[in-house]
Parts: sequence; C-alpha cells; structure tokens
Amino acid sequence: MKPRTIKTALAATAFFGLAVTGMALAEPVDDKLIIEGEEIKTIAEPSAHLDGALPELVSGWHYRDTETRAMQMDDFDNPGMIFVDRGLDIWNAADGTEDKSCASCHEGPESMAGLRAVTPRVDAKTGDVMNIEGYINDCRTTRMGAEAWNLKGDPMTDVLALISLQSRGELMNVAIDGPAAPVYEMGKEIYYTRYGQLELSCANCHEDNNGNHIRSDHLSQGHTNGFPVYRLKQAALLTAQHRFVGCVRDTRAETFGLGSDELNALELYVASRGNGLAVEGVSVRH
Ligand code: HEC
Ligand code: HEC
Repeated sequence: MKPRTIKTALAATAFFGLAVTGMALAEPVDDKLIIEGEEIKTIAEPSAHLDGALPELVSGWHYRDTETRAMQMDDFDNPGMIFVDRGLDIWNAADGTEDKSCASCHEGPESMAGLRAVTPRVDAKTGDVMNIEGYINDCRTTRMGAEAWNLKGDPMTDVLALISLQSRGELMNVAIDGPAAPVYEMGKEIYYTRYGQLELSCANCHEDNNGNHIRSDHLSQGHTNGFPVYRLKQAALLTAQHRFVGCVRDTRAETFGLGSDELNALELYVASRGNGLAVEGVSVRH
C-alpha cells in the first residue's frame, strides 16, 4: 500500500470513528413532510445521470430528529419564516441611485414562482452561470444603482428565502445539458475530488456514508432542495454555497470563495443530483 492510501484510510477511519465503533447505520426516518396541508416530495427516483450513485433520493429532512422535522412542518414554528417576512420588507424598499425597489420592476414576489426549482442555470441571454444570489446582485448593481449584497449577509439570505418560498413544493429540475453541460462536468469533478488533510470528497461523506453518524450528526445525501436552510446551530439562514464552504472546512481544506466559478459549478451539479425532490422553501436543519 502506498503511504498516501494508508493516511487516507486512517483519516477516514478517525472521522467515521463513531460508525466504526458500533454506532449502527441508521436509516433515514420514514415520515411525510406536510406543510399547510400540502405534501412536499422528500423521496424521489434518482435521475439517469446519477448512474446508480444513489439508490433513492432522500431529502436531508429525513435525517433530522423529530423536533427539527416538526419545526419545518409548521410555518409558525419554522424560525426561517421570520426571515421571509423581513425579505418582503426589503423587496418593497427602494434603494440605490435609481430609487427603485424589487417590486418596482417585479411586482410581488410571486412573480418569482418556479425560479428556485430551475436554478442554478446557465442564463440564456448572457451565458453566465446564475444562482438566485447572482441574479439579485445583478439587478442591484446594474438596474438599481445599489451595492451588491454580501453573499451570506442578512439582506441576501432574507430575499433568497422569500424567493425560494415561492417555489415550495415544485420539483427540482436543473438543466444539465446544452450550455450547462461543461458546468455540470466541472461541478461533478469537484464533487469527487478529495480535499484537505482528511482527503475527503463530497462523495465520501454524502454518497458513500450517508446514514452513518459523524460526531453527533446523521449524514444525509447532501441535497440542496431545502436551501436556504435555517440552521439551529448557527441560529441563521445559510445558502447552499455557505454550507458547502462549511463542509470543505471540515476536511481542513482551503475553500473556494462564495460566488466563484467553482462553487457555482458545484452548486449546479449538486442541485441536479436532487432533481425530482421538491423545493422545501426554507427548511430547518441542525
Ligand atoms: C429596474 C428594474 C429592476 C429592478 C429594480 C430589479 N430587477 Fe430583477 N430583473 C429585472 C430584469 C429586466 C430582469 C431580467 C428578466 C429577464 O431577462 O427575463 C430581472 C431578473 C431578475 C431575476 C431572475 C428572474 C428570472 O426569472 O430569470 C431575479 C431573481 C431578480 N431579478 C431579482 C430581483 C430582486 C430581488 C430585486 C431587488 C433587490 C430586483 N430584481 C430588482 C429588472 C429589475
Ligand atoms: C467529512 C464529511 C463531509 C464532507 C467531506 C462533506 N460534507 Fe456536507 N455535510 C456533512 C455533515 C455532517 C452535514 C450535516 C448533516 C447532513 O445534512 O448530512 C453536511 C451537510 C451538507 C448539506 C446540507 C444538506 C441538507 O439537507 O441540509 C449539503 C448540501 C452538503 N453537506 C454538501 C456538501 C458538498 C457539496 C460537499 C463537498 C464540497 C460536502 N458536503 C462535503 C459532512 C460532510
């Protein structure tokens, strides 16, 4: 065995220590996510492009404990909904040298219905890889004469939550063909690359070990249909890319920047792995 392989095996064993010392692989909980009387699809058939990598798509919601799952089933208990309200205030507030609000051009937030399910995508007009944050900052800088928002700051995550909620229940359907094909390939390569001192790839944790426990966490398949996520541990809303950065840091690696080509490609790829699962709007995780 080459030394590198031994190191990897040791690091991985240490990381998955709990699982190795007998913490049994726990199945995701068999439950139904029903919000306001509407059933949200949290289990789906994997798309053909996954090539059998996952036998079944399971939303991260199923891996959380009873209390956390319950919070997401009731909009009054879902702490993320407070940010949606804040997002609506921001949506209606004029800003920038043009003195325009989002509402000046887009009317109500319901005009954004469906967008969350098909993004990230390669924009048909510009050819750029766009997630919702990218569209928002584009409107702020080029159409409102306002400054771009910090990609993980409050106004951005608030408005992102508002826009995502408009697609709650719609099935993720991110395009991977045509102009998206090279982006998909780039994201896929990043997904399977081992990073950091622990030499772990996204796939090592979310594909090979979902169902196992890491420290106190029950590892999910790492889908993004729930984003933005209200994370109880951080008492804040997280974007998908913010979550990726946290995961990469856990492997003790340098991370890519929010909004970088790499993270945009990774976000498109990861979203496409979840095609068929429903947008959860603002989900709750710990
Ligand atoms: C001056 C008018 C204007 C303002 C103000 C504006 N936008 Fe836009 N926005 C547009 C136009 C035009 C497009 C492109 C639509 C297209 O290409 O179909 C767009 C596109 C978008 C998109 C992509 C939608 C899609 O379906 O492709 C999002 C998301 C968005 N805007 C969000 C916002 C948010 C949030 C704000 C406020 C912070 C805002 N916009 C402010 C004019 C505006
Ligand atoms: C060392 C293991 C590990 C690695 C490597 C890792 N993650 Fe994670 N990830 C976790 C843990 C633990 C959580 C929290 C529990 C869960 O939802 O799986 C998590 C959560 C997530 C979530 C949130 C899922 C949800 O439903 O809320 C996403 C998305 C995600 N990871 C994507 C990635 C991506 C993309 C990569 C590669 C850049 C990656 N992860 C690498 C351990 C890892």
